[in-house]
Amino acid sequence: MNHPRIQRAPLRTASIVGLGSYVPERVMTNADLERMVETSDEWITTRTGIRERRIAGASETTSDMALEAARRAMTAAGVTAGDIDLIIVATITPDMPFPSTACLVQQKLGADRAVAFDIEAACSGFVYALDIGARFVEAGAHETVLIIGAEKMSSVVDWTDRNTCVLFGDGAGAAVLKHRPGARGLLTASLGSDGSKAGLLELPGGGSACPATAESVAGRRHFLRMDGKETFKNAVQAMVSASNEVLERCGLSIDQIRCVIPHQANQRILSAVGERLGATAEQVFVNVDRYGNTSAASVGIAMDEAVREGRIRRGDLVLLVVFGAGLTWGAAVLEW
Ligand SMILES: CC(C)(COP(=O)(O)OP(=O)(O)OC[C@H]1O[C@@H](n2cnc3c(N)ncnc32)[C@H](O)[C@@H]1OP(=O)(O)O)[C@@H](O)C(=O)NCCC(=O)NCCS
Repeated sequence: MNHPRIQRAPLRTASIVGLGSYVPERVMTNADLERMVETSDEWITTRTGIRERRIAGASETTSDMALEAARRAMTAAGVTAGDIDLIIVATITPDMPFPSTACLVQQKLGADRAVAFDIEAACSGFVYALDIGARFVEAGAHETVLIIGAEKMSSVVDWTDRNTCVLFGDGAGAAVLKHRPGARGLLTASLGSDGSKAGLLELPGGGSACPATAESVAGRRHFLRMDGKETFKNAVQAMVSASNEVLERCGLSIDQIRCVIPHQANQRILSAVGERLGATAEQVFVNVDRYGNTSAASVGIAMDEAVREGRIRRGDLVLLVVFGAGLTWGAAVLEW
């Protein structure tokens, strides 16, 4: 399914020079869900590893969460709004179909000089945004790029469907990309897609195929739907093969990677991917127990926590690997 890509050999490298994340204050526990649908803490914990997730306030939007994560990443990077040339927001829960959430973030930040656009690659969004943003830096087209993965999954979850409502949470993760002289930064990235499996995980209503009508609302077509078992199988397979591809391209073995940051979908997926890659449990970063699946935000939140916890230090090699609706997937190796 994957096409061979040329190994990166840019004149300018692109590094993450600052990370930031934000999760809403409100915690929803498995016990809270037991009161909403026919489920149990035991079922959710053993099948998914999720113990709690964060839920945004009623008036808190995806762009509000994106803004907070962006501000934290910019502080860490030592850049101001006036320095930002490009803003890329990865989301499947934009504030509205248009204008883009990136334009709303630009306005809230006061990043007047920036070009702003959204990308949609579901849970793979952060690595897609990283690869796109890094290419602008490498090409010398933009100096300072802000990438953000942000989601208000609680706004598209069907809170009467126990198959899906226990899995997701809200939040945002952001990174500032720049050329850092002397640093290798992003070594390589590989992205993949398979639209033939689009139906495995979708939100069918609200677009041109199924505009909002009283019937579409009554038919619950504005909520996400998922074939959990098939999604699980495809996720493990794609994440392992994308990881192996980027490691091979860089001539690295898994033991040379300090930290693996997988998309936080489900503890069983994380364990299966880690095992098949030959990674130790210590190498694989996990926070799905506290946040659930935050889609495009998850890798940004996880990487920010890993750095703040000292799990990733300057010069360490990091493997990012993601999978999501589309289907989409991707992996990247970077030197922190
Ligand atoms: C969703 C998932 C946890 C379900 O686990 P599973 O082992 O496949 O469970 P099954 O689908 O076989 O369901 C088993 C039973 O549990 C039930 N069940 C589903 N959700 C439940 C819940 N929250 N609480 C209690 N029972 C539940 C099902 O109805 C089914 O009952 P049945 O056998 O009477 O029909 C798992 O498929 C998964 O993690 N998939 C990937 C999801 C994902 O990460 N998606 C995002 C990718 S980016």
